[in-house]
Amino acid sequence: MKHVLAFCLLAISFRLSSAIKLPQNPDPQPLKWWQSDIIYQIYPRSHQDSDGDGVGDLKGIESRLDHFVELGIGSVWISPIYQSPMKDFGYDISNFTNIEPTFGTLDDFRSLSDAMKERGLKLIMDFVPNHSSDMHAWFNKSIHSEGKYKDYYVWKDPKGYDAEGNPIPPANWVNHFGGSSFEWNEIRQQFYLHQFVKEQPDLNYENPEVMKEMLAAMKFWLDAGVDGFRMDAVQTLFEDQRFLDEPVNPDRPANSIPSDHKYWKHIYTINQPKVIDALVEFRKLIDIYTLADGKERCMMTEAYLDTLEELLPYYGTKENPAAHFPFNFDLIVYANGSSGATTFANIIDEWYLKKPEGATVNWLVGNHDNFRIGSRYGEDAIDKMNMLIMLLPGSVVTYYGEEIGMVDNVISWEDTVDPWGCNAGPDRYSLFSRDPERCPMQWSAEDNAGFSTANKTWLPVHPNHKQLNVEAQKNTTGESHLKVYKRLSDLRKTEAWQFGGLEAKTTNDGEIYGYSRIFNNQGFLFLGSFSNQTVTVNATQEFEGIPSTATVYTTNVGFEPETAIGSSISTSSIVVGAKHSIIVAF
Ligand code: GLC
Ligand code: MG
Repeated sequence: MKHVLAFCLLAISFRLSSAIKLPQNPDPQPLKWWQSDIIYQIYPRSHQDSDGDGVGDLKGIESRLDHFVELGIGSVWISPIYQSPMKDFGYDISNFTNIEPTFGTLDDFRSLSDAMKERGLKLIMDFVPNHSSDMHAWFNKSIHSEGKYKDYYVWKDPKGYDAEGNPIPPANWVNHFGGSSFEWNEIRQQFYLHQFVKEQPDLNYENPEVMKEMLAAMKFWLDAGVDGFRMDAVQTLFEDQRFLDEPVNPDRPANSIPSDHKYWKHIYTINQPKVIDALVEFRKLIDIYTLADGKERCMMTEAYLDTLEELLPYYGTKENPAAHFPFNFDLIVYANGSSGATTFANIIDEWYLKKPEGATVNWLVGNHDNFRIGSRYGEDAIDKMNMLIMLLPGSVVTYYGEEIGMVDNVISWEDTVDPWGCNAGPDRYSLFSRDPERCPMQWSAEDNAGFSTANKTWLPVHPNHKQLNVEAQKNTTGESHLKVYKRLSDLRKTEAWQFGGLEAKTTNDGEIYGYSRIFNNQGFLFLGSFSNQTVTVNATQEFEGIPSTATVYTTNVGFEPETAIGSSISTSSIVVGAKHSIIVAF
């Protein structure tokens, strides 16, 4: 999650030069949709508001579907749209099989789903297995120890009582958003566990009834025709039943304090062995549907873990598959705007070298929990990062707005709504708040960027929407992030991308990171500069199989030296301006 583990950078960036080669696929089979399609993440509160309440909704999304079709985006993951008191903006669910009224109704959902199917778009639901809202009917029944609901949540007696007679929490566990993971319940006279905010009580996966209940909820959506799930925060599904105190994290961020999640090493609350078994169970259900009608469904999992070795088991095994792919957050966690080409190269190499045979790697550089590309790697890196992740072998995720290069908005303490920011208080909220990257989509130069007609939107629209918006980037006669993005999307559909080999390396003393993708002598070469100076790359010498001339396929917006798209250049001396990037095709 946010700001995590930058201190582990060392672990990955010790290698000074880097290169990897993967052969072209000798036996090309059509890729599955979740391997080839761009997966586009919608944060529904911020996508499009249709009823003027300042919050996005399902009808709004439906009205914008052509945006995806125009960009060649094949699948859409929507962050939670279930009934929710919105303490964590939808990740606190009070009914897993109904739609939050702010977003619409089940009929609106069906209409959206039909409209997507008509356009050939896949729909991925965000599924939140670890917790419900404290307003879920199950939780109320559990408080009152009613029948089978008694152990639906993780209830625990106090460790003892302090001098004033206050109950002492069973362990020192700290939740993700700051403060104790235990909340006292007066009625039940016990603590309950919450690994996120206190209004998100953890479901008890030690109780098989809970698993049944969640599978039934997934079934509901599979029957409604969804194509897959993004499984939220699965690393927190189980806790060590001894409820022992967790130790201080030796690698904690320098500015962390004991109420911060990252202050502690979560050996008893994160990534417990049974997590994988649960994922296998979820996957089995999904595969039943795929087998029944031959239509591929997909399960992607979210877990921020310390090492790749810990994450790889989330793929499961051949006999017992788990995730189709676990999200790969390494480019977010281990790289930032001051990282050099070698850091990127090493992260990328490591995945291809260590991934299980036949497994699909996933690439992403942003989401609703992390700062935006332009704000994290620098605005001059927006096109370069999109190029870098979209053309590597593997699945790819785009966070809404990254196709036009939206940047984080500055949000005052008064406007802060994210519980993580709110919990941290006015002095520290900006270290944690996820509001800056969740602001409304910038569709046009109109008021509220065409997102809403409300007087006030739930988070402020970025003031730069007057210039930076979809309409402007579509209609300009010049270059734009959107036009670059569309070209990348087109390139993913070529044989070179689908079946091509990969040769990836740093060149020019680690100033350039580049890779070629070639299938039967046709393909393309990407070069991204991490240098502060103009450099000249001798691509014919550095990479195998590059012809002496190639066509400029795309560059970043404002590429230097000025080079026309479609022009022919000599590949033995490709000049790339500071921090710029180029793709040539042959
Ligand atoms: C995941 C989500 C995050 C949410 C948390 C609790 O990490 O991405 O937004 O707050 O889970 O559900
Ligand atoms: Mg849990």
